[in-house]
Amino acid sequence: MSTVPKIVEDLEAWSWNAAVLGLGYVGLPLVVTMARAGIDVTGFDVDPETVARLQAGRSHVDDVSDADLAEVAARTTFSADPDELKDRDVLFICVPTPLAVGKQPDMTYIEQAARIVAGSLRPGHTVILESTTYPGTTQDVVQPILESSGLRLDEHFLLAYAPERVDPGNASFRTANIPRVVGGASTTSTEAAATIYRRFVQKVHPVADARTAEMSKLVENTFRWVNIALANELSSVARAIGVNIWDVIEAAATKPFGFMPFYPGPGVGGHCIPLDPFYLQWAARLTGEGTRFIELAEMVNARMPQVVVTRVTQALNERGVAVRGARVVVVGVSYKPNVRDYRESPALEVIRHLQSWGAIVSYVDPLVPELPLESPLIAHPLTPELVASADVLLILCDHDALDYEMIARDGRLVVDTRNALGRRGITSPNVLLP
Ligand SMILES: NC(=O)c1ccc[n+]([C@@H]2O[C@H](COP(=O)([O-])OP(=O)(O)OC[C@H]3O[C@@H](n4cnc5c(N)ncnc54)[C@H](O)[C@@H]3O)[C@@H](O)[C@H]2O)c1
Repeated sequence: MSTVPKIVEDLEAWSWNAAVLGLGYVGLPLVVTMARAGIDVTGFDVDPETVARLQAGRSHVDDVSDADLAEVAARTTFSADPDELKDRDVLFICVPTPLAVGKQPDMTYIEQAARIVAGSLRPGHTVILESTTYPGTTQDVVQPILESSGLRLDEHFLLAYAPERVDPGNASFRTANIPRVVGGASTTSTEAAATIYRRFVQKVHPVADARTAEMSKLVENTFRWVNIALANELSSVARAIGVNIWDVIEAAATKPFGFMPFYPGPGVGGHCIPLDPFYLQWAARLTGEGTRFIELAEMVNARMPQVVVTRVTQALNERGVAVRGARVVVVGVSYKPNVRDYRESPALEVIRHLQSWGAIVSYVDPLVPELPLESPLIAHPLTPELVASADVLLILCDHDALDYEMIARDGRLVVDTRNALGRRGITSPNVLLP
């Protein structure tokens, strides 16, 4: 007998509990959001250290504080034991989707998580994949692994895709108030997933199927990737023309329709924007379709760290200082402001380039105490002495908790790749834009 009518009945009656597989930047906020909505949640991770830390009430994710964990402690447990999944009704998969060699999708984490779920699968489960991935993953990769348990979609379990859109460090938009796209591996799965998310997300947008939902996420991030590349290219054009690109973009953004501002920078970092377009590119190639915008954007964005290093070198040269032996203080190494995540951060490449040219590089970042480069670097506090001793201060990420007045006042030369000073109304003849 099919267990699906009972699943639907329980979901509609809000009589369900949950487990989240993968307790990182996506999974942990999801645990907290569901628990706040009154849902009993188990957080599961293969990393025992992560689990032990969470069991001790300590968060490793920017958007979740220890106080948040304490607030939901009565409704949350954390475990590295897959047996815990058996008693859970809805299983969310939030594991990494990096790139493999050749910028191909690396499905190993999703496959491993799906195998763990398959090992605990019972009639009555609903499984939801949240990881960013290429169209077809839910139905072509996850569903066969789940069905290897002997249980069948739409007979014993339901399966859907609902991409996470969380924006770490964004205080206005969190898991609960970012509209959620859901698409199932079957029509019943779409409806079930929509019912699930309506319990803890303000707005749910069901789509035709899992593939549509999977592609929608990749389109969002590819849109950002391509437009950031355009902004990066335009910044070189603006410099050549002799105008300030940020003033130009601010002016263009006063148009109340048909324009959306994107800003240049030292390159694109993080776990999503620089990776996701390649998932779309890979899927497009399988169909024989081209993705020329993605390739062009990759060319433009990938050269930005080198553009920044060239700018620093020129600026030093204009002051009679060789880059070899110059004291460069990098300000901000995270990939975006106010988060401690430096994965894929352009700062890593910029620092490597500068070191290869013989510069003596140190860095300041209140959120990143250590950078595990080939020769690891330890963060320095931002002091007037450090600022005054630098041949150049290079702003790569503009965390709020930095004294930009001091940087502008005491810095002999500042290269500001984020317009951190300009945006704060701070001007100084020693500050250069890239
Ligand atoms: N970070 C973001 O801003 C963001 C935003 C939207 C979507 N995403 C997507 O969400 C997914 C997860 O990203 P993240 O940033 O949370 O990753 P993360 O690296 O911060 O966390 C992933 C966690 O999954 C765990 N894990 C790995 N394999 C597992 C398994 N088989 N079972 C259980 N746990 C496992 C890891 O130990 C880790 O704790 C990715 O697909 C990413 O592209 C990320």
